Amino acid sequence: MTDALRVVDVAEEHLDAAWQVRLRSFGPGGDRDEWRKTALEFAQDGRCLGVVDGDELVAAARLWPFEQWWGGRRVPMAGIASVIVSPEYRGRGVGSLLMRAVLERSVEKGLALSALYPATTVLYRHLGYEFAGERYQFTFSAADLRMLGGKGVPVRKAGKADAQLFLELASKMHATQRSSGPLIWPLKQIESWLGDEDNFAYVAEDGFVVYNWSDGNLCVDELVAGSEATARALWATVGSGASIAKTVLAYVGPTDPIHLLTEHEAEAQTQVQRWMLRLTDAPAAIAARGFATGAVLDVALHLDDADLPANAGDWRLSVADGTGSLVAAEPADDAVRLGARGLAALYAGTPTAALRGAGLLTGGSAAVDSALDAAFGGSAAYMIDSF
Ligand SMILES: CC(C)(COP(=O)(O)OP(=O)(O)OC[C@H]1O[C@@H](n2cnc3c(N)ncnc32)[C@H](O)[C@@H]1OP(=O)(O)O)[C@@H](O)C(=O)NCCC(=O)NCCS
Repeated sequence: MTDALRVVDVAEEHLDAAWQVRLRSFGPGGDRDEWRKTALEFAQDGRCLGVVDGDELVAAARLWPFEQWWGGRRVPMAGIASVIVSPEYRGRGVGSLLMRAVLERSVEKGLALSALYPATTVLYRHLGYEFAGERYQFTFSAADLRMLGGKGVPVRKAGKADAQLFLELASKMHATQRSSGPLIWPLKQIESWLGDEDNFAYVAEDGFVVYNWSDGNLCVDELVAGSEATARALWATVGSGASIAKTVLAYVGPTDPIHLLTEHEAEAQTQVQRWMLRLTDAPAAIAARGFATGAVLDVALHLDDADLPANAGDWRLSVADGTGSLVAAEPADDAVRLGARGLAALYAGTPTAALRGAGLLTGGSAAVDSALDAAFGGSAAYMIDSF
């Protein structure tokens, strides 16, 4: 690396160069003007960072201001997207330099977690990210869905004006199901999807569905249902397309009730994309997460975190009544020892036995492992969206 390389906030004057790096990184595609408009919005809100060599932009990355459900509570999360380094600068630490700045910016923005879909895991693992969950696309028979019934449930067409209602219905369901993983998008983004005539949205009293056409199939982007009757009605609404679409692709969690309602499932066509997580502000991330009700934990924790040193050191991790805290403490000989990767995986519910097996958790005791598993465990973390 040359001394001329430095991290900057991407500004309007960098956008032409950023487009060129993007073309070289992801190939052609996308509307340049649309891309520019969105890039500018990220830049103007301090959520687009770059690396310049002298005056020339050679790398960039964006931060989405999401919240993410963890144990049925909302945790502010930076969704990292469009990480790009110009080909002639790759393999020289530019991506790492950029991502370290991205982690710091996440903390500054009050985003206690950071998540991403990795195109390569090496870069991100070096920086403390670890696999945390999956995004599934299941394949159902449209004819199966059509037969689910729910005819007595009133369902109406929905649009842009229903964005806030959709957020509230989804929130109610994820809080009740104590979900881990699903994203909460900025309201403006939800309005834009609902305003798109290619998306078909329907709402019932305690649920909604958004779906569209995808290569001759129907594809459910999101379906929220607060009751069995509503689930049947909304899935059957999509399945009513069975005369044209034989297959319905659906982004849903692996334990969604639909798996228990349909007769058949084309498991062989299930697609899985894995995503990674990192805690950027460990005390804030622990304080915001929901934990298993009934779990009680009070353990000494030693964290190593060279990239975000505010997380490093000795802590007391406590959980009671479904909430947790991480408070600075004196060093303890029997402390559980974790690095950033181990902490991220534990947070996402990875069993301590797996963490020990991979060398990501040491110290502590068998009794502490059981208590950690009980507190952080629950249903597997999943997302329905990529970003
Ligand atoms: C992926 C990308 C951002 C990495 O940038 P970079 O500047 O080359 O990264 P660094 O030099 O900081 O590399 C950091 C580590 O990741 C490793 N790494 C980088 N790219 C890799 C790849 N494609 N496959 C495997 N390892 C890779 C490096 O070897 C290095 O590990 P090391 O320290 O053990 O040698 C860059 O190659 C790129 O822009 N690719 C095209 C777009 C893309 O895939 N973006 C990622 C979207 S998630």
